[in-house]
Amino acid sequence: HRSLLGIGQLETHQIHYLLDEAEQWVELNRQSKKHTDRLAGLTIINAFFENSTRTLLSFEIAGKRLGADVVNMHAAQSSVKKGETLIDTAMTLNAMRVDAIVIRHGSSGAVQLIAEQVDCPVLNAGDGQHEHPTQGLLDALALRHALRARGRQEFNGLVVTICGDILHSRVARSNILCLQALGAVVRVCAPPALMPSGIEAMGVETFHDFNAALEGAEVVMMLRLQNERMQGQFIPSPREYRHLYGLTAERLARAAPDAIVMHPGPMNRGVEIDSTVADLAGRSIITDQVEMGVAIRMACLDVLTRRARGVEGWA
Ligand code: CP
Repeated sequence: HRSLLGIGQLETHQIHYLLDEAEQWVELNRQSKKHTDRLAGLTIINAFFENSTRTLLSFEIAGKRLGADVVNMHAAQSSVKKGETLIDTAMTLNAMRVDAIVIRHGSSGAVQLIAEQVDCPVLNAGDGQHEHPTQGLLDALALRHALRARGRQEFNGLVVTICGDILHSRVARSNILCLQALGAVVRVCAPPALMPSGIEAMGVETFHDFNAALEGAEVVMMLRLQNERMQGQFIPSPREYRHLYGLTAERLARAAPDAIVMHPGPMNRGVEIDSTVADLAGRSIITDQVEMGVAIRMACLDVLTRRARGVEGWA
């Protein structure tokens, strides 16, 4: 497929390929001079219909470090506010002869709709409750680095607990698909109101008791309560939520010794995760996740524009 709409469309070898491709960009990004002309002459638009810090900035930095011309469109400052439809907006961007469009949208499926209308590759930067594929990939890359630093080369059998607002989480969906493809065993934990019905069909083990979900977990990935997507679900107060589902230092002790702590951000410190855990040296890889985000997005932009550039290599 010329676009990246979800982890669900990728073969396992394609996931490995993107992770391996990103390693060269991890190296480049650690140099003082962080620039190549790989995508020189190409124009990339980041069209964001929802707020973002990490995804928007890292896609912008990724495109610029690859030498492309990068333009950001914030829907709140665009003609979307005058009533222009999603399709008309997409056709407008397409008419500018751009070479890739990166889209974040609040509706599941909106990115696919645009991808079907335009002439260039489209990269999903998060669509509703559907998928956030570059987040899944960057989490896998950050985890791979952390595992290798601990002398472990493979994800096979790795027990990963994802806890939080699973119902609204495109990050959870992309991570479940990506981690399972790499061989991990994924548990999900949420209050009953925030556990999607039928999620067992994805091959995950479900928990409402966080303490039980943590037993033997080698990786603990915490998710934010997405208050902006709540539609009357009963959720505990922030204080009760922390009591039942917050990752505190005492609770982390229930996981495997040396368990790795992850969070895609933005964090609600003191709610789903305590600062003592979020900032725990040697255990928390939250800032590594952000670092890997730039490299993964460089890999995705490079690989997905190869066909148009006449370059071989998308596995
Ligand atoms: N993890 C993530 O997608 O963060 P942003 O919403 O800040 O992009």
